[in-house]
This record gives sequence, structure tokens and C-alpha cells, in this order.
Amino acid sequence: MKEKSFNLFITILYLTSIVAIIYFAYSGFDYYMLEMKDRPHDPLHTLLKPGGLWGHGFGIVGSSFVILLFLYSARKRFLFGLRFGNIRKWLNVHIFFGIIGPLLITLHTAGKLNGLVSISYYSMLAVMFSGIIGRYIYIQIPRDEEGHELALGAVEEKNKNLTEMLVKDFDVPQDVMDEVRRMTNVHFEIEKGQLSAMLQITLDDLKRPIRFWKLKRFIKKRHPKFPPKGIKRIILYSKKKSLLNRRKIFLGAVTNVFHLWHVVHKPFAWIMFAIMFVHVTITVLMGYRWVF
Ligand code: HEM
Repeated sequence: MKEKSFNLFITILYLTSIVAIIYFAYSGFDYYMLEMKDRPHDPLHTLLKPGGLWGHGFGIVGSSFVILLFLYSARKRFLFGLRFGNIRKWLNVHIFFGIIGPLLITLHTAGKLNGLVSISYYSMLAVMFSGIIGRYIYIQIPRDEEGHELALGAVEEKNKNLTEMLVKDFDVPQDVMDEVRRMTNVHFEIEKGQLSAMLQITLDDLKRPIRFWKLKRFIKKRHPKFPPKGIKRIILYSKKKSLLNRRKIFLGAVTNVFHLWHVVHKPFAWIMFAIMFVHVTITVLMGYRWVF
């Protein structure tokens, strides 16, 4: 599937799922706010309790989503003959299931969390939130269009190409080129360790929009006749160059942090999965079959 169609497809999936979740959460809001002892007297109880028509449905769809997110691991390792589609898109599918699945499971629990199954639920939340951090670290590692990590030589090549594009595509005046160089070659303290690296990266991400707003203002002021389309492209290329430079500088530190992150993320995923498996097996053995 082409990049644009895929992005549209995943955006539609997010929108429909989030609208549906808001609808269900809003419809059941008064019920979910009730104390446990009062719930059986509420008319919505048969529908929204974890074993109710809707409640059980949320659980089934939510846990199916959580199982489906492991397709990413399968694709990464070519398991079950899964070789198609690029890894970056598969990761986006993983994230979709990793966000919507836990939200549905939250509705399924109806806030009734106790016993072993609550360990699975909190592990799931831990994996979900750590996933958001992981995604941030993931994008700090330079990758090709397919999502494979780039070697340092390839990063330098890409960086050089961006500079050439800037010079070739537009007749960029020397003073603008100097300013682009100044904005894209930010000084970082590389020797201060991994935590400092992550802090510097986050700070740089927060400051970058202001830096490039200043670059835009600089071009407009010095060269009022420069075509707006050209300014847009210069800013775009400069942003890419700036990110690439930073990613190159911190490659070693970020790769180590990402490795550590995996060590935390994965065990929680397996704990969640193992307990979820026990929970589902017991439920089915007890005769809860939903509409089947
Ligand atoms: C219940 C929710 C989730 C579970 C059980 C889960 C589980 C996993 C597992 C087992 C892996 C290791 C994949 C592998 O290397 O084979 C992984 C990787 C990853 N997950 Fe999740 N995840 C969840 C949610 C999320 C969310 C919400 C995000 C982002 C917003 C996310 C982002 C990532 C990233 C960036 C990786 C690393 C990809 C890589 O190194 O190739 N995950 N996840």
C-alpha cells in the first residue's frame, strides 16, 4: 500500500475507533461512576458489566487487538511466512492495536480491578505508556524508508544529499546558506552519558520550532522577494538536516538507551499476555461465550 493511502487508512481507523470509544464511555459514564455495590441495580448493568453484552464484547475485541499487535514481532522475524509490507508501517499498525486495544480493555474492566487479572491490566498499561516513550526513542535512530537502521556512512550520505538538494533546487543565497548551517549544527554535550543525551534531545525537539521560525523570519527579512514555496522547502530540508545531524551525534547513546528500553518493555508484555491467557481460558471454561 502506498504511503499516502496507508496514512489515510490508519487515520480513518484511529478516528472511527476513538469516536466509538468516546461514544461507549459517554453512554456508560453514569454507570461507570456508580459504586460497585450499586451497579447491579442499574439498568445498564446487564450491558456494561465485564460479562455483559457490551462489556464482554469490549474485552473480546480489545484482547484480540492486543494479540494482533504481536504481528509486528512476527513480521520483524519473518515468522508464519509474514514477509510483506514495510516494517515502519507494521510498527504503526502495532501502535494502533497497542493504543486502541488497552482502551477497549479498560472499558471491559468497568473499573472492576482485583486479583491476578489486575496485574495483567497494569502491566498492559505499563507496556502501553512505555511504548509511547519507546516510539520517541525509536525515531531518534536514523532509518531508511523501509524502517531499517542506517549505518553511519549512509547517514552522512543522506546529509550530504540534503545539502546538495538545497543548493541545486534553489539558488540559495550565501547568507541564507550560512544561517541554515548555523541552525542545523547545534552544539551538544556528547560525553555526558545516556540520560543527558535523552534530555538534550528532548530540549532540542522543544526548541527546534522556534529556531526554524527564526530562520524563516531571517530569509523573509533579508530576501523579501524569495518565493514562499522556496522558503518552505529550505525550512523542510533544514529541519531534516538538523535532525539527521543530531541523530548522527547521539547514535551510540540512543542505541544503548533503546536496547535498555526493550529490556523493560518486553517482560511487561509477556506478563500481561500470560495472565490474559489464563484469564480468558478460565472465563471460557466457566461457560462465558458472549454471543457465540
Ligand atoms: C498493550 C500494549 C503493547 C504491547 C503488549 C506491546 C508489546 C511490544 C513488544 C512485545 C515489542 C517487541 C517487538 C519485537 O521486537 O519483537 C514491542 C516493541 C515496540 N513497541 Fe510495543 N507494545 C504495546 C504498545 C505500544 C505502544 C502504545 C507503542 C507506541 C505508542 C509501542 C511502541 C513500540 C515500539 C517503538 C517498539 C520497538 C520496535 C522495534 O524495536 O522494532 N508499543 N512492543
